[in-house]
Amino acid sequence: MNNLNFRRHRRLRSTAGMRAMVRETQLQVTDFIYPIFVIEGENVKNEIPSMPGIYQHSMDNLGEELDEAVSLGIPSVIFFGVVTGKDAVGSGAYHDHGIIQQAIRFAKKRHPELIVVADTCLCEYTDHGHCGVIEGERVLNDPSLDLLVKTAVSQANAGADIIAPSNMMDGFVVAIREGLDEAGFEEIPIMSYAVKYASAYYGPFRDAADSTPQFGDRKAYQMDPANRMEALREAESDIAEGADFLIVKPALSYLDILRDVKNNTLLPMVAYNVSGEYAMAKAAALNGWVDEQRIVLETLTSMKRAGADLIMTYHAKDAARWLEETK
Ligand code: PBG
Ligand code: ZN
Repeated sequence: MNNLNFRRHRRLRSTAGMRAMVRETQLQVTDFIYPIFVIEGENVKNEIPSMPGIYQHSMDNLGEELDEAVSLGIPSVIFFGVVTGKDAVGSGAYHDHGIIQQAIRFAKKRHPELIVVADTCLCEYTDHGHCGVIEGERVLNDPSLDLLVKTAVSQANAGADIIAPSNMMDGFVVAIREGLDEAGFEEIPIMSYAVKYASAYYGPFRDAADSTPQFGDRKAYQMDPANRMEALREAESDIAEGADFLIVKPALSYLDILRDVKNNTLLPMVAYNVSGEYAMAKAAALNGWVDEQRIVLETLTSMKRAGADLIMTYHAKDAARWLEETK
């Protein structure tokens, strides 16, 4: 037996201590950005049916949610607005006292050290539900940029620490960079949704944010799930335009893309573990078909292994608790 020529990989797996010593990927609470839905009105805490454990919070209920995230050690949140008064040009997105601007001011006052990310898009505020202005059934690129820049500047004015444009118009990074700089916000980084696919995994989010397109789909601006080289082109142009972080979205079905982009940039990378991914894990867990804690921690670890430095995830609070427990 002794002269058989094979490697004993199991030596490094023999005990928990040995496994910990050679573990290549560490998932930590400091990796998480926690998405929060803020809704107009008072005393609202609506659970989203397709996202058990995730709620739409009115401003008066936001404090509790933020306190909980902060007390768990989550360093960052991203806000999404849910509004009723919508129009063709998404005015609510860039109103100085819009729901997101209010939420940002409130969060920064209550927890100055919390990193507040503003999702910068129009679809939650347009009556047609598209991410830009439309002409007939087409979403116009350059006219949408102007409104996106206005949105970013108003979010920065409210105190946002990071601007995260997600509408997939060409040139949005450079347009927002110029707009922020002109307004005196040279220090505010842009976390670009550089690689965002036209995905069925956004379904539960669109229920939560009431942002389903009223006609057509987003395939003329979000990416084709079949494409890989296109992701590298998108990343390349956002880097050239001055992005500070790159997001790949969704995450789980796109781990190959995450790795490809990671290998082509020195920028910090963010994986967006989207609503449909959350819904699938939750549904199976609630049925008792999978072990939620193990499935979720394995999934999040795989995103880091694939190249994510940070993860936007609705599991953030649960994962933070589990990581603390298993320390
Ligand atoms: C808005 C936006 C979307 C998500 C984040 N920002 C939805 C979309 O593009 O339709 C999806 C997030 C999720 O599914 O969790 N552009
Ligand atoms: Zn949008």
